[in-house]
Amino acid sequence: MSEQKQEPTAEAKKKINRREFLMFAWLASLGFLTLNVGGMTYLFALPRFKEGEFGGVFTVGKVSELPPPGSPPVNYPKVRFWLSRTPEGVSALYKVCTHLGCLYNWNDQENKFICPCHGSQFQPDGTYIAGPAPRSLDQFKIQIVDSNSGDVLAESNEPGPVQLPDNPDAILRVDTGQRINGKPHG
Ligand code: FES
Repeated sequence: MSEQKQEPTAEAKKKINRREFLMFAWLASLGFLTLNVGGMTYLFALPRFKEGEFGGVFTVGKVSELPPPGSPPVNYPKVRFWLSRTPEGVSALYKVCTHLGCLYNWNDQENKFICPCHGSQFQPDGTYIAGPAPRSLDQFKIQIVDSNSGDVLAESNEPGPVQLPDNPDAILRVDTGQRINGKPHG
């Protein structure tokens, strides 16, 4: 006895179409989400700042080319720091005062930094001397690397000057994306 095949009813056809539509919509949103996540991951993986720009790593040069200890600090306006060399080492001081954010200046006669806004004063290595600033000057992370191997010979992870290694060809780099807060005083 042969079985007769029954045609799906109009109601059943409608249900199938709705199910197909939902499946299609779900797949489409999944694809869209995957594309979005992939795109965002790619954008995050890109470096945000170019080398040599403020926010990125700036190469100052060879240790042998640095000014001798006790020389006036060197102004690097584009990358917003003063490079200061003292007998203890070298510091890259962020140019913004730790009081209310004015740009302080170097005073050659008095051999210190003085802020024009409210008169805070700082030693050549950024240490607080006087005024309303709550802490010493902030500085950027310094790395001194071997010019051949790229090995890190010295770096700053806390406030204070970095001692220079006994290698005149080593390269000094300043990471203006990594700020180290100055020590609070009092
Ligand atoms: S902003 Fe520098 S002392 Fe006030």
